[in-house]
Amino acid sequence: MRILVCGGAGYIGSHTCLALVGRGHQVVIADSGVNSSPRVVPRLRRLAGVPVPVHRVDLRDRVALTALFATYRFDAVLHFAALKAVGDSCRRPLEYFDNNISGTIALLQAMQCAGVRRLVFSSSATVYGEPAQVPVREDAGLSVMNPYGRTKLVAEQLIGDLCTSDPDFRAANLRYFNPVGAHASGVIGEDPCGEPTNLMPYICQVAVGAREKLRVFGGDYPTPDGTGVRDYIHVVDLARAHVDALEFMVRADRSLTVNLGTGRGVSVLDLVHAFERASGRRVPYEIVERRPGDAASVYADPSLAHELLGWRAEFDVDAMCRDAWRWQSMNPEGYRTATRREAPSRGRR
Ligand code: UD1
Repeated sequence: MRILVCGGAGYIGSHTCLALVGRGHQVVIADSGVNSSPRVVPRLRRLAGVPVPVHRVDLRDRVALTALFATYRFDAVLHFAALKAVGDSCRRPLEYFDNNISGTIALLQAMQCAGVRRLVFSSSATVYGEPAQVPVREDAGLSVMNPYGRTKLVAEQLIGDLCTSDPDFRAANLRYFNPVGAHASGVIGEDPCGEPTNLMPYICQVAVGAREKLRVFGGDYPTPDGTGVRDYIHVVDLARAHVDALEFMVRADRSLTVNLGTGRGVSVLDLVHAFERASGRRVPYEIVERRPGDAASVYADPSLAHELLGWRAEFDVDAMCRDAWRWQSMNPEGYRTATRREAPSRGRR
């Protein structure tokens, strides 16, 4: 199939492009560049070993989007293009509503005009708010904790209404738990702008010496070691799930909503210790106040994804830490670290 990957130069999008190519699909990327580096695409092309066309398009730019759909005949769209920092979304909610929700509406309209009726949507476990019980199943109650979470929930609902209105439209809502890790090559990975807000990139930056110590938000949660418990999932497992969901949607000719996690709860200190083992580096930390809005324990019941897609996470926490560390140590400044090929030639003296 020929797949349009919106946000394909981002962290999860870039790993999914590789998974798509690995399964024989053709990929076209649309990315606005607001939260991705220009270095991603050449590296992605090198790993993929095939041409990957890239178009710098903001989904809200309807003229550019229409032109893109007129240039290619797409069989499906994978939609990763969104802003995703919770704190940032509280400071500038309208920017999040516009980028994430208006962008999704414009994409759905362009798909409808072009007669493209298959969508895989990057949703998030954030749609469960603070879950009443764990592990979380897909039929758990939905709620909103912050503007970012609202954009994911609203986008799922808009897509649901479109599926109701158009009996031929198929959508897969994939609710990610906590994606971490990197491609095994160490060539692509997660490169947050500024100070990381998520745990794994923060640990990586402490281990590489870019930050002094980790602040562990809360040591008095009702969890085995008092720190927050989450369901970390290797980004390569997550990427594979997108291809599985896409192919299932086509084969079974139906829509779906599934959790993507390992089903295993891992505490902040479990992750710190696993990372120390994988990297051979110490990760100094200090336990500080809880972060407002954090739940004690959130992990998935991923059995529906297994039942429908035959998908199951393969990589454990040690593999996630090993691959995150390979990426970080090969690219201490993320994509600002040039590889030998990318470094400007100094010429002969
Ligand atoms: C966060 C977002 C969630 C979003 C997800 C993926 C919040 C409240 N939730 O989830 O909506 O979908 O990221 O981007 O921001 N921690 C520390 N020190 C740190 C960073 C994190 O102790 O410097 C702890 C947190 O308290 C938590 C765990 O590590 O217990 C994981 O945090 P994080 O990586 O930010 O993910 P979530 O909070 O699960």
